[in-house]
Amino acid sequence: MSIRLLGAAFLVLFYVGIGYAIEKITYPTRIGAVVFPHKKHQDALGQCRICHENGPRKIDGFDKVMAHGKGCKGCHEQMKKGPTRCGDCHKSG
Ligand code: HEC
Ligand code: HEC
Ligand code: HEC
Repeated sequence: MSIRLLGAAFLVLFYVGIGYAIEKITYPTRIGAVVFPHKKHQDALGQCRICHENGPRKIDGFDKVMAHGKGCKGCHEQMKKGPTRCGDCHKSG
């Protein structure tokens, strides 16, 4: 294995290390906070790329449109798993 490949392998492990530290991400919205169980998704989907096309970090342009599309809801509809109704994601109180 070349030195360069070895470097890439370490980088991947490093990212996975960070990723596993992210248990939950909360989106406070005006119709109720959405709690995204990040770690649970990592475990259920077994990969990062399905959501992180450009690498495991903050997702460029992640917003309401994306959340209601492929970023959250679209995938739940497609896989027939996970919440698809407003109140099942947006929880008040
Ligand atoms: C089901 C989709 C999904 C999967 C699978 C997923 N993530 Fe994420 N991840 C997200 C979302 C959504 C965010 C928040 C994006 C944002 O708000 O910009 C995020 C954020 C992150 C962040 C940045 C957190 C911050 O605040 O800086 C890291 C690092 C990360 N994920 C790593 C990983 C790793 C590593 C894996 C695989 C082991 C993984 N993710 C799998 C959806 C996912
Ligand atoms: C699968 C989870 C999910 C479902 C289902 C869902 N949302 Fe959302 N919604 C989110 C997330 C996550 C955000 C935050 C996106 C961001 O800020 O980046 C959001 C943002 C919003 C916002 C923006 C609020 C603000 O403070 O800017 C509104 C309004 C909203 N959703 C309404 C709805 C309505 C109405 C429904 C049902 C028709 C719905 N949502 C269904 C996850 C969901
Ligand atoms: C690529 C597909 C995919 C994306 C993108 C995705 N999810 Fe999910 N989600 C799933 C699957 C699959 C499950 C079912 C997991 C299980 O039952 O173990 C799930 C389950 C959930 C659950 C229920 C967890 C529980 O404890 O039962 C919530 C809440 C949720 N998702 C919120 C979100 C939010 C918010 C986003 C966007 C920030 C999102 N998901 C993005 C596939 C996805």
